[in-house]
Amino acid sequence: MDPVIATEHVTDMIASSGPGGRVAKQKAGSLKHLLPPLPYEHAALEPHIDAHTMMLHHDKHHAAYVANLNTALEKFPELQERTAFWLLLNLSKVPQKIRTAIRNNAGGHVNHSLFWRAMSPAASGAPAGPLADAIKRDFGDFEQFKARFDDAGVKLFGSGWVWLARAQQDGGGLQVYTTSGHDNPLMQGHFPILVNDVWEHAYYLKHENRRGDYLKGWWPVVNWEEAARRFERSDRSAEREWEGEGGPVAAPTA
Ligand SMILES: [Fe+2]
Repeated sequence: MDPVIATEHVTDMIASSGPGGRVAKQKAGSLKHLLPPLPYEHAALEPHIDAHTMMLHHDKHHAAYVANLNTALEKFPELQERTAFWLLLNLSKVPQKIRTAIRNNAGGHVNHSLFWRAMSPAASGAPAGPLADAIKRDFGDFEQFKARFDDAGVKLFGSGWVWLARAQQDGGGLQVYTTSGHDNPLMQGHFPILVNDVWEHAYYLKHENRRGDYLKGWWPVVNWEEAARRFERSDRSAEREWEGEGGPVAAPTA
């Protein structure tokens, strides 16, 4: 079944959306995916993440994924009304010729859109409520969870992402999860709650080759309110709303 986009919490990031991962056409012409604005200034996460890294990461790297996604779709108008998340979750319906480009660039777009919102300059420092209870249940305590997350991020070979995700099997427990490239846990049925980017472009200017330092230094900017919101919407009843969570951004061309 095609998922349906919910715009209730992401109206700032989605021009419009509808059933089947389709972005509603507002006027004639092809649709373009757009780079979502950062929800804070480049320097807002200093000193934990430096402004220059944030500028390059968002304005150059993420922007390139969006541009490459639009380029890949240029000759496939039937796919131009689909959201980035729909494309990522329906790669078998994407022509072989552009499948790798879509996987890399729709994934890069979706994951970075999640990543910006996973951080906040006004972070609380620790989870609360049902998410805090679930972390304690599944990892022992918050410190053990952070250690598991950091360890997974350090051990991930090459470029990828480390996640706190909720399994859709086995009672919906929380898991630390890693993906290579720009794959997303939903491609394997795991709903993403929290994410950190461990591509070198996320940390190399400040931490050089010390990925572990970057991971340890990231916790003060984690947006636990956003993680809690995602957790509370992550059960099966929310399945049809998942697609909009990645920040698929599209609008008609002029
Ligand atoms: Fe990145």
